[in-house]
Amino acid sequence: MVSAIFTRVVAIGLLACLAACSDEPRNVAPAQVNTTPAQTVSLTPRQSQMWTRSCALCHVDGTAGAPRLGHADEWADRINKGQAVLLAHTLEGLNDMPPLGYCMACEADDFTAMISFMSGSVLSGGDL
Ligand code: HEC
Repeated sequence: MVSAIFTRVVAIGLLACLAACSDEPRNVAPAQVNTTPAQTVSLTPRQSQMWTRSCALCHVDGTAGAPRLGHADEWADRINKGQAVLLAHTLEGLNDMPPLGYCMACEADDFTAMISFMSGSVLSGGDL
């Protein structure tokens, strides 16, 4: 008798737990943009403004497959191509990456700083 009640209590407890546990994964918030990337390069206020108006349109959310700000893993293969290739692709465009990344006022130095800023890999100089 005692053991039957005990079994029932345990069973109810288990059911309650199962219900609670199965709810949990659905309550997990969707992945957020990583706001604490390993950025070692900061932009000047002017560059920051230009970046916000152009590159940020795609490189924050990863629009059309753009490597995202602060996600070094998404940038690694690209960084390995070398700075000259990255700059050339920024100037000329690459697939869904528009020529100049929509920043008509940006100079090569600005692009270099922005690429460093986004990738967390320090590139230097703006020469092509
Ligand atoms: C309209 C969306 C868009 C905007 C705006 C944009 N990008 Fe991109 N960018 C992309 C996409 C998409 C890719 C990936 C292209 C691919 O590999 O097919 C990319 C790739 C890149 C790459 C990697 C190129 C390579 O050789 O792998 C660099 C560097 C880059 N963007 C820099 C910039 C900079 C700097 C700006 C701002 C001045 C900018 N982008 C603005 C969409 C954008």
